[in-house]
Amino acid sequence: MSKHRVCVSDYEEEAKKILPKAVYDYYRSGADQQQTLADNTAAFNRWRLRPQVLRDVSVVDLSCSVLGQALSMPLCVAATAMQRMAHADGEMATARACKQAQTGMMLSSWATSTIEEVSLAGEGGVLWLQLYIYKDRELTLSLVRRAEDAGYKAIFVTVDTPYLGKRLDDVRNRFKLPSHLSMSNFSTESMSFSEGSYGNDSGLAVYVAKAIDPTLSWDDITWLKKQTRLPVVVKGILTGEDAKQAVSHGVDGILVSNHGGRQLDGVTATLDALEEVVHSVQGHCEVYLDGGVRRGTDVLKALALGAKTVFVGRPVLWGLACQGERGVTDVLTLLKEELQLAMALAGCRSIAEVSRSIVQRRGFTSRI
Ligand SMILES: Cc1cc2nc3c(=O)[nH]c(=O)nc-3n(C[C@H](O)[C@H](O)[C@H](O)COP(=O)(O)O)c2cc1C
Repeated sequence: MSKHRVCVSDYEEEAKKILPKAVYDYYRSGADQQQTLADNTAAFNRWRLRPQVLRDVSVVDLSCSVLGQALSMPLCVAATAMQRMAHADGEMATARACKQAQTGMMLSSWATSTIEEVSLAGEGGVLWLQLYIYKDRELTLSLVRRAEDAGYKAIFVTVDTPYLGKRLDDVRNRFKLPSHLSMSNFSTESMSFSEGSYGNDSGLAVYVAKAIDPTLSWDDITWLKKQTRLPVVVKGILTGEDAKQAVSHGVDGILVSNHGGRQLDGVTATLDALEEVVHSVQGHCEVYLDGGVRRGTDVLKALALGAKTVFVGRPVLWGLACQGERGVTDVLTLLKEELQLAMALAGCRSIAEVSRSIVQRRGFTSRI
């Protein structure tokens, strides 16, 4: 009988036993020394909560909106590639779980299910497409058109991946997709990552060097905005300077992200970058955060520092590996219940009541 899982790390522990080593390594890893990977979670521990008591918290309302879409809670699912390595139902299971939880799902360009399949599975739910800009702009635009036609509500364009970060385990494992899977949104073998010889390197790093455009600049954001009527969010901003650029290029949202510590190692934890971005944006667009969110109190801290919603990546993969759609539902429910309890104990009855004053950075004195 499987163990009673009561927190996200219980799901990871079990997923590690279930998944083939190369798959678990790919999902878990960060780049290089994995400093940023570790810091993303550690950053939440550098902040403490300042609760307000005696406020009748018998009813706590988690509902919120993201880009005008009503959601049941400020916790959404980040794009993670190749989910059918975790479970046969992959992205479709995730879409069904998100719909059931009434929260948003960002589908990876590198999904192992098509944009259309996921839209059918998650019909009635809120779906967004994560976009990599390919050297081949027609191919890139075809993904955008398909997302528009299938009812996706926004494009999250990833801007931190001109090349793939060096994930040592993936190099050691010469990571590639199992032969029965492919990146389903592409029709040619070379673009669908299904075939080919990648030498001694991570297959994905070779794929990115071949297909993804490293010449990207802010002009490409202007270009993308002109190509679609959907809101455009830039995913992978970590500084106030870049946040200002994003605003001046008319983006609809900024996702403060370091790709789960998988790109440039040594960059700041996302929680540490959040306030700088929020201040620079001055309310001109929505700001979100992902990276290291593993508990309800993490979500609360990110909201207090100005995030409109957070996204989770790996926790969903662990749920998927453990029990498919049911596992993802369980992880989302668990995090929702943790957030609800944290808000009640902090005296916040609605998202609007979560303010900057409920957090303080841990000082020197509290560390000794
Ligand atoms: C296995 C895995 C695959 C990912 N694939 C993508 C992707 O295809 N596109 C993308 O923009 N980000 C991708 N990311 C980054 C996530 O969208 C997100 O930024 C990150 O996972 C958040 O950190 P967390 O895993 O600590 O929650 C991936 C992350 C992981 C762990």
